[in-house]
Amino acid sequence: MAMSEKILSVAPMLDWTDRHCRHFLRLICPSCVLYTEMLTTNALLLGRDPQRFLEYSAAEHPLILQVGGDDPEAMRRVSWLAREYQYDGINLNVGCPSPRVQKGSFGACLMATPEHVATLMTALADSGLPVSIKHRLGLDREENYAALQQFVGRVAQSGCRHFIVHARNAWLKGLNPAENREIPPLRWDWVQQLKQDFPHLQIEINGGFKAPATVLEQYPSVDGVMIGRAAYHNPLLLAEVEIALGRRAQLPERGQILEDLMTYAESWGETLPAPRLSRHLHGLYYGVAGAGEWRRFLGTAALNESAADFLRRALQQFA
Ligand SMILES: Cc1cc2nc3c(=O)[nH]c(=O)nc-3n(C[C@H](O)[C@H](O)[C@H](O)COP(=O)(O)O)c2cc1C
Repeated sequence: MAMSEKILSVAPMLDWTDRHCRHFLRLICPSCVLYTEMLTTNALLLGRDPQRFLEYSAAEHPLILQVGGDDPEAMRRVSWLAREYQYDGINLNVGCPSPRVQKGSFGACLMATPEHVATLMTALADSGLPVSIKHRLGLDREENYAALQQFVGRVAQSGCRHFIVHARNAWLKGLNPAENREIPPLRWDWVQQLKQDFPHLQIEINGGFKAPATVLEQYPSVDGVMIGRAAYHNPLLLAEVEIALGRRAQLPERGQILEDLMTYAESWGETLPAPRLSRHLHGLYYGVAGAGEWRRFLGTAALNESAADFLRRALQQFA
């Protein structure tokens, strides 16, 4: 894959990458692929207001719907829903270790049943949208590259061509989800090895990337890098990677980002309370002078103020 086609993406993050966060990230990084938070098939098919989760703004494209679940028929129906809402693709979550998800027998525990995952991927592909899977290296303390290789090989037989690998195991017992993103050892080399073993597949690496240099080091060996927490806490990191990839000349101006965000907020009028947008903006001044002042200012966002009015105040003080 040529450098110009390499994938840069922002990881799906529950409660974080909602549509307002994604719009903000898109203003900073025009070329990255964005993902929804994980939405369960139950929420999408049986929930009271699935539209609320599914709607997004056109600027968010390319945008992938991430789903969690374990029922092939439900996946088939979600596949058509994703097409109706014009998502650019659908991703299956096989990485989440939370007890709630384990109770529903989906997320990371599906790594134990590659056969079933292949069935789910076939069902997800029903509407013709591109499909991908996001998974771990393995389960619990079993460190077994051959098992990972078999997992990927079996799922690829379903026709799935795009694998996003969070480069550590999921420990289903004894760790909470946050610990499961820190404690199981990171093994970036296993993901690189997957690319060598499956050169015809798109292999994207995820887990622990914080600096542009370490992201760039990966690109010769894999097809894409997905960044989660660091993209949320320091979103301009994404623009730095774009510069290094030759996709832009310079970092965006923070004042311009705030202006563009105000145009977005104005389109919501009074229906978007300030905190629903401001909660995602902490990282705008990450690592630069004024970061503390900015965070304190974000604390003044009030529920009875619209996001547009809040941004107007922000522009007066910070642009
Ligand atoms: C707050 C939070 C919520 C997350 N929610 C999801 C999710 O909905 N789906 C998913 O596949 N992974 C989820 N993850 C995991 C991330 O997608 C990613 O795999 C993980 O954070 C490792 O990448 P990072 O080190 O770049 O953050 C979440 C992570 C965080 C911090």
